[in-house]
Amino acid sequence: MMAGTTDSPGSASSDEAAGGGPAPAPARRSWLWHWPDEVACAASAQALAGTIATHPDLRDATIELLGPLGAGKTTFVRQLLRALGVSGRVKSPTYTVVEPYHAGGLDISHFDFYRFEDARELVDAGLRETFAAPGLKLVEWAERAGAWRPAADLQLEIEPQADESRRVRVRALTPRGEALLA
Ligand SMILES: Nc1ncnc2c1ncn2[C@@H]1O[C@H](COP(=O)(O)OP(=O)(O)OP(=O)(O)O)[C@@H](O)[C@H]1O
Ligand SMILES: [Mg+2]
Repeated sequence: MMAGTTDSPGSASSDEAAGGGPAPAPARRSWLWHWPDEVACAASAQALAGTIATHPDLRDATIELLGPLGAGKTTFVRQLLRALGVSGRVKSPTYTVVEPYHAGGLDISHFDFYRFEDARELVDAGLRETFAAPGLKLVEWAERAGAWRPAADLQLEIEPQADESRRVRVRALTPRGEALLA
C-alpha cells in the first residue's frame, strides 16, 4: 500500500519532490530474481556487499526493501550487514525506526518506517539529517515516508510465493543503482 505518498510535503529543499508529487522514478534497469530459500537470499546479499566494499563511490547508496509483512526484508538486510562485516545482533528497527552500524570504515543506517502513519513523522523524528549524512541507507517500508524519504538508488521488491520461495523485482533508479549490480 502506498499510504503517505499522496500528502506530499512540497518541501522547499527537496529537489526530487519539486513539482509537488512523488512520482515514482522510472527504473533505468530492472531484473527479476528468484530466491528459493534464505541461502539464495544470502548469496545475493554477499554479491552486493562485495560490490559496495570495492567501490567507495557506492558507499552512500540508498537501497529500499519493499514487500508485504514477512516478505523477508529484514532477513536480506541482516545478511547484507553480516556480509559487510557487521558482527553481533542485528535487530529489526520496527520500534526504534533506525539502527546505526559501522563496519569496515562504512557507516550504515537501517530504517524501518512501518509504524509511520504520516510521512511528517519522519521530519518530526529528526531523520532528515540522517538521510543527508554520508553512509549506506537500507530502508524498509520506505513508502510510508512518502516524499520525505531519501531518493532510492536501488529497490528490491520481495514477493513471497505460495511455495515460500521469493520473487524479487529489482530496479535500479540511478546510475549508482546500476553500478550496485554491475
Ligand atoms: N528468502 C527467503 N526464503 C524463505 N523464507 C524467508 C526468506 N526470507 C525471509 N524468510 C522468512 O520469512 C520470515 C519473515 O522475514 P522478515 O522478518 O525478514 O520479513 P520482513 O519483510 O522484514 O517483515 P516486516 O514487514 O514485518 O518487517 C522469517 O521467518 C524468515 O525466516
Ligand atoms: Mg522487517
